[in-house]
Amino acid sequence: MKLNIAVIPGDGAGPEMVLPALDILRIISRRYGHILKLTEVTACGKGIEEQGSPLPEEAQRVCLASDAVLLGNVGLKKYQDNPFHLRPEYGLLKLRRCLKVTTNIRPVRLYAPLCSLSPLKKEVTERGLDLIFVRDIAGGVLCSEQVRQVGEHGAEAYEYEYYNVDIVWDTAKIAFEIAGARKKKLLSLDKANVLESSRLWRKTVTQMGEHYPGIQLSHGYIDSAALKLVTHPEEFDVVVTSNLFGDIISDEGTGLTGTPGLYASAELSVKGPGLYTPNQLHHPDETMIGKQMVCPVGMIAAVALMLRCSFGLEEEAEAVEKGIEQVLEEGYVTADLAEKNLEKKQVVGTAVMGEMIARKIKEG
Ligand code: IPM
Ligand code: MN
Repeated sequence: MKLNIAVIPGDGAGPEMVLPALDILRIISRRYGHILKLTEVTACGKGIEEQGSPLPEEAQRVCLASDAVLLGNVGLKKYQDNPFHLRPEYGLLKLRRCLKVTTNIRPVRLYAPLCSLSPLKKEVTERGLDLIFVRDIAGGVLCSEQVRQVGEHGAEAYEYEYYNVDIVWDTAKIAFEIAGARKKKLLSLDKANVLESSRLWRKTVTQMGEHYPGIQLSHGYIDSAALKLVTHPEEFDVVVTSNLFGDIISDEGTGLTGTPGLYASAELSVKGPGLYTPNQLHHPDETMIGKQMVCPVGMIAAVALMLRCSFGLEEEAEAVEKGIEQVLEEGYVTADLAEKNLEKKQVVGTAVMGEMIARKIKEG
């Protein structure tokens, strides 16, 4: 198969995390006989500095012509006071619009060797945490027009929470498909007790459910679900929700593992290229950037997700995931994880962690 991939190393630790991920893609391609074409794209901070835009035209063209886009990291403190159109985050929102991605998928589960890093009590983690957040990424307040003006109280600003049936439909469909491949349970979260947009969301997801009679659909409120996720994470399997709610609750779910840097994120469109990133697009500690201290596993997991979702290469995806698990089981971590007082672990650099996973795949 031909794998034509656009690569945006992005900001911060992005470039050092992307390198091992690309090596893994090369190894997988060689081993399974795929033809790999990688094209590096200038965007995010580098785009702002070199071309005056976080997503220059050329970047849009290359990404649209690819089968899938791999993106490292987005945003740095030094850009946070720039006008919005000159911030890396704006580039990401623009890229989402350009690729017409509709749905964000964020799988999160505990890795047994790192369970002690979870902020949850042992009795809770023992019951398990293994779920997939399916978040709409085409509607809601994050995609709204932004208004800032002067009104009768002085400065005022607003965005709005807009949904239509088509937007909800695209994401609901993907969520039902994912639920069908797991425990056949789907939980949709909204705030239908208050919001009109949530009532539209709930009605549309329910209508989609009529096409999936084998899936047990339930609805919940986002606020009480956020609470329950902390006390009973084992009760969650596939969760579908709107853009802003999904942004927040997927970070909560990831945070409950204590190892947010180990997960991946996929942004899928109905037929164009998908966008693959680490679940956490920004490393919380910028002093670690460029020092081989940041874990590349989230980025490598994004490669696995890409192989699965954009190319249907399940065996290849599993080979990558198995390599990750084996290296973690052998007790290797990077400095960002070791910081948290993990005992009996061996600390290696970003690139070395990648090489170890690559070796496992080759041996596999
Ligand atoms: C995410 C990020 C983005 C979002 C930002 C950087 C635009 O927080 O992917 O979760 O809110 O979607
Ligand atoms: Mn987020």
